[in-house]
Amino acid sequence: MIFKPTLNKNNKLNKRLMTIKDKVVLITGASSGIGAATAKMLAGQGAKVMLLARREEKLHDLVSDIGDSAEFAKVDVTDYDSVNAAVQKTIDTFGKLDVIINNAGLGYLGPMEEAAVREWKTMVDVNVTGVLNTIHASLPHLLESQGHIINIDSVAGHNYFPNAVVYCATKHAVKAISYGIRVEFRSRVKVTNISPGAVETEFIDNFTHQATKEAMTKNFEDVLKADDIAEAILEVLAKPSHVVINEVTIRPNK
Ligand SMILES: NC(=O)c1ccc[n+]([C@@H]2O[C@H](COP(=O)([O-])OP(=O)(O)OC[C@H]3O[C@@H](n4cnc5c(N)ncnc54)[C@H](OP(=O)(O)O)[C@@H]3O)[C@@H](O)[C@H]2O)c1
Repeated sequence: MIFKPTLNKNNKLNKRLMTIKDKVVLITGASSGIGAATAKMLAGQGAKVMLLARREEKLHDLVSDIGDSAEFAKVDVTDYDSVNAAVQKTIDTFGKLDVIINNAGLGYLGPMEEAAVREWKTMVDVNVTGVLNTIHASLPHLLESQGHIINIDSVAGHNYFPNAVVYCATKHAVKAISYGIRVEFRSRVKVTNISPGAVETEFIDNFTHQATKEAMTKNFEDVLKADDIAEAILEVLAKPSHVVINEVTIRPNK
């Protein structure tokens, strides 16, 4: 179902939402959760969306649902060459790149002394290296379009939680990347760091530590929906060119 609010052209916000039309947006981790919801919402406003993830079938279904304004590339964000090829595919398909949304990410939560070292490495590779790969491959095009980098961080990038040492470390790194790029490319590329609290997605399905999964399942009930984050992204993108929102923290109101 594609989100298409009726636009009243006289309303100031709605006028700005129209600037999203024809923007070319690359979204990583677009096969489920926040990424998929954002793809649908932005496409509903007339954006062209390039969808990246590993699960090809899910991406294929999403593109069929959205239509001609969507394309996908099967990409593991930890593989620089594959990310670079997807950026080139975006240019070949849509002619430019205006926005990247670094959303691919995962958490393996559990106590430090029982943690699998392999899972730490995957979190660092996807949550940190994946973000850097996508920014580096996209930067020349974003500088040309005076574009926008949106990084999906987390409240775990600002706080510290038990059973989440490495996840928090990766999300603190995402915040450092957002703020570092902002000061290095000030006024040439917009940067927004978005930090959600608990969102109902497939995120918790990744947890391999069963006791942590069971303990946290309740924390992920009756929380934010993926559409809540997609809407926040829409609002960030609807700001006029002289305004940039650098940080958004969004939590369930409970
Ligand atoms: N849910 C929450 O409570 C919450 C809160 C704060 C922040 N976040 C952040 O929000 C982002 C999106 O997560 P979500 O909640 O929407 O969970 P999700 O439904 O599990 O989505 C994660 C996405 O990341 C993709 N992904 C994972 N590893 C990848 C890789 N190596 N290469 C490419 N894509 C990869 C997955 O696609 P494939 O498996 O198809 O590759 C999937 O599309 C993450 O960065 C997460 O840390 C989530």
